[in-house]
Amino acid sequence: MTIDFEQEVDHYGVNSIKWEFVVGDDGLQHWDLTDPDLGDQSVLPMWIADMDFLAAPPIVEAVTQRAQRGLYGYASKTDSYLSAVCGWMARRKAWTVDPKWILMMPGVVTALHVIVRHFTAPGDKVLIQRPVYHPFTFSIENNQREITSSALQLVGNRYEMDFEDLAEKAADPAVKLAILCSPHNPVGRVWSREELTRYAEICHTNGVRVIADELHSDLIMPGRQFVSYGTLDERFLKDVFVCTAPSKTFSLAGLQTSNIIVPNTELREELRIELRALGLWGTNPFGLVGTEAAYNHGEAWLEQVIDYIWSNLEYLDDFLKSRLPSMKLIPIEGTYLAWVDCRDLGLDGEALNSVMMKDARVYLDKGHIFGPEGEGFLRVNVACRRQTLEQALSRIERAINDKISG
Ligand SMILES: Cc1ncc(COP(=O)(O)O)c(C=O)c1O
Repeated sequence: MTIDFEQEVDHYGVNSIKWEFVVGDDGLQHWDLTDPDLGDQSVLPMWIADMDFLAAPPIVEAVTQRAQRGLYGYASKTDSYLSAVCGWMARRKAWTVDPKWILMMPGVVTALHVIVRHFTAPGDKVLIQRPVYHPFTFSIENNQREITSSALQLVGNRYEMDFEDLAEKAADPAVKLAILCSPHNPVGRVWSREELTRYAEICHTNGVRVIADELHSDLIMPGRQFVSYGTLDERFLKDVFVCTAPSKTFSLAGLQTSNIIVPNTELREELRIELRALGLWGTNPFGLVGTEAAYNHGEAWLEQVIDYIWSNLEYLDDFLKSRLPSMKLIPIEGTYLAWVDCRDLGLDGEALNSVMMKDARVYLDKGHIFGPEGEGFLRVNVACRRQTLEQALSRIERAINDKISG
C-alpha cells in the first residue's frame, strides 16, 4: 500500500480548527470570509498540530463500517482495544504495559488538567521546561497552581535540559509535580535514555511526581530512537503518569481518545476515583475503533508518513539555508513541528506575526505562546503536502524581502 501524500484534500466544511478557524481576542473564531484582511481561503494554515493528510485507509475503513451500523450509543473499551494499545507499546516502545494500567480520557490536555488539579493543591508549584507546548501552562494556571520553569538551553543549534537548574527547582518543597514533554514540542528534541534518567532521578530524589507527555513519541525522525519513561528504572514507575494517544501519530485528535498509563496501583486508583468524581467516563465509539485499527494496521502508513515529513523538513532546511538565511531551522529529531529561529530578522513577535499572517498569508504559531524563551521563533507544521510548503515558503520569502527593502 503506497500512500499518495501529494493528494489534494478539501479541508473545508468539516469544522476544522486548523483550516476554518483563527485564534482571535475571544478565543477561536470562524474565519470571516467577508473580511478582506483576514478571511479568505488563501491563507495557508500551518499552525495547530493536525496533519493535512487523510487518515490511514484501515482507520477510515474501520470508522466507516462502525458509522454505517447507525448505532451511536454509549460504548466502552474491550479486551481487543486494550490488547491493540499494549501491542503497540510493546512493539514500538519496547514497554510491556499491563492493560490494567490504562485509564482512558478524551485527551492528553484533559489528563494534564485533571492530574494537576488532583495531585497538587492551590499554591503548589508545577515544574515545566519552556519553551513548551502552551497547554502545560494552561493546566497549571487554570487550576491556580504556580509555574516553575527550568528553561531549556539552546546550545549551538540544539536544545538541552539544564540539569543543575532543574535540580535546584525540583528541590523547592512547593514543587509537587513536573510535566515532561517527550519528544519535546516545539523544540523537536527526542530525549536520550541518559537525559531521561537524569531527569527522573532528580524528580524521584525530590519526591516530585511526573506526567510524561509522550504524545509525539511515534513521530521519530530517521536515525533517532525514542525512549519511553516507562522503560526507565522501575523505581521511577511508581511516580509517573505516561500520556499516550493515536491523535498526533495518525491525526485522530477529533476522535478524542487518549490512554493514560499509570503503573502504580494506588496512584491509578486515586486518579480513577477523581475521574468518577468529575463525571469523566465513557469513550467515543469512533475513537475506540479508530485507535484499534490504527495500532493493529497503521504501521505501514506511519512509516510512509514519517519519510514524507522528513523529506519536507529537509526541503524546509535547504530552502531556509539558501534563500532565507536569517531564519534557521532547529534540527528536528521528532514531531512534525519545525522550530524556526527568526531572531536575526530583528522583528519583534507582533511584527513577525504580522509579516507572516498579513503579508505572506501563512498562519504559523508564534514562538512566544510557548513561553518567553520562544520570542523571535515560529513553529511551522510541516505535515502538509509539499506543494503547500513550497507555496508557503515562497510567500514568506517575498514578504520578508518586501519588509526588508521597504
Ligand atoms: C505535547 C502535546 N501534548 C498534548 C497535546 C494535545 O493532546 P490531546 O489532543 O490528546 O488533548 C498536544 C497537541 O498538539 C501536544 O503537542
